[in-house]
Amino acid sequence: MIKSYIESNRDRFLNELYGWLRIPSVSADSRHKADVRTAAEYVKARLSELGAEVQLIETKGHPIVFGEKKVDPSKPTVLVYGHYDVQPPDPLDKWTSPPFEPTVRNERIYARGSCDDKGQVYMHVKAFEVLMKHNLLSCNVKFMIEGEEEVGSENLPIFVKENRDRLKADVILISDTSLLSLEHPSITVGLRGLSYMEVEVTSANRDLHSGVYGGAVANPINELARMIASLVDERGHITIPGFYDKVKTLTTEERKELNKAPFNLEEYKKELGIGEVKGEEGFTTIERTGIRPTLDCNGIWGGYTGEGAKTVLPSKASAKISMRLVPNQDPAEITALFTKHIQSIAPRWVTIKVTAHHGGEPAVTPTDSKAYRAASKAFEEVWGKPPIPTRDGGSIPIVALFKKELNLDSVLMGFGLDSDALHSPNESYGIRNFLIGIETIVAFYKHFK
Ligand code: BES
Ligand code: MN
Ligand code: MN
Repeated sequence: MIKSYIESNRDRFLNELYGWLRIPSVSADSRHKADVRTAAEYVKARLSELGAEVQLIETKGHPIVFGEKKVDPSKPTVLVYGHYDVQPPDPLDKWTSPPFEPTVRNERIYARGSCDDKGQVYMHVKAFEVLMKHNLLSCNVKFMIEGEEEVGSENLPIFVKENRDRLKADVILISDTSLLSLEHPSITVGLRGLSYMEVEVTSANRDLHSGVYGGAVANPINELARMIASLVDERGHITIPGFYDKVKTLTTEERKELNKAPFNLEEYKKELGIGEVKGEEGFTTIERTGIRPTLDCNGIWGGYTGEGAKTVLPSKASAKISMRLVPNQDPAEITALFTKHIQSIAPRWVTIKVTAHHGGEPAVTPTDSKAYRAASKAFEEVWGKPPIPTRDGGSIPIVALFKKELNLDSVLMGFGLDSDALHSPNESYGIRNFLIGIETIVAFYKHFK
């Protein structure tokens, strides 16, 4: 009944999603401020027409969509969290079809946000439709869909702290993570945290002629490059003193369990077009992305990057550097350790400015809760096999905040794939993932009630 409803409404479901994907809700880019709001209005309208009470909550930044459907106060309440903002589509010339014109190729929807996170949020909207239309909604539901996740969720914590009562629930349900594969369903039980820094190195007070001054005045690009390179040693270990002090090490048993997840290194390399993987010595690829912290330069600039050659000794060089954190590392502490260390290794012939951007705490979610069991049963029912618990490398900082402020655990029931190219050109989402996701979410409600 449910499967056939989803099948026979498939084209309408997809067209509604395409309408949403066409709105360029890029939260990082102020030129898209109005589009971000239009995207909020769009999902508000879709939830309202299904019978939820929905409003836009204004914040200092982009609005939060908050919706509610009360069924029975004696029944449990599910709080669905997701985000309608998307990453900038750059570099535009690498897209095969335009990022905000959803295009289907090989049964996949190509568009920015198709997987992260509009496509995944829309599964919840349509699961809600299925439940409402069949009179099967057995729990109270709340929707909290924000527009600032991709820029660090600055305003959501304020809303959460001021609305504890309104947000009362029994579990938070989130689809914003990946599956192992369509053959191997999984539930995410861990996310990494984040500390994000910017470093600016200055040498002379202006750009100089590299012939007249070169050799006598420090080059900030060379100096910055040397500093960055020294932050990770040849064994893949981060050299910041104290960086690993609080890292929780897993037992041999736990590591063994983690590595049981199906993983094919050859396919992994092939899909990425790399000849060899690289990471911290002594850990597998699954461990390197799941339970170990990292340090990566995300961008570096300075000097002349235009056409042809310009002989210049630049005045400044900058870099953005992110660290993925694991339990029990604290982003504020790591930010302080990084700042102190980078300042201590800056040579005296340059000056350095260090700025912290948004960060977030790592999270681990329980597998012995009623909600996790409901999710697990839902997968078993729809996929014919139990889901494997996995630790994802990405971050959803708000998960730790929900635990702290609302004392609520999250169930991370994501349906994307790592190969969906989130944040990259040609992001896509499998139509099959979308449809089976709706079915699995419907099954979750059945088992959670
Ligand atoms: N949905 C992702 C996080 C994610 C992706 C988790 C895949 C697990 C698997 C989320 O939208 C995201 O991109 N988060 C940011 C963090 C944020 C503070 C900008 C990230 O992980 O870089
Ligand atoms: Mn996301
Ligand atoms: Mn994202």
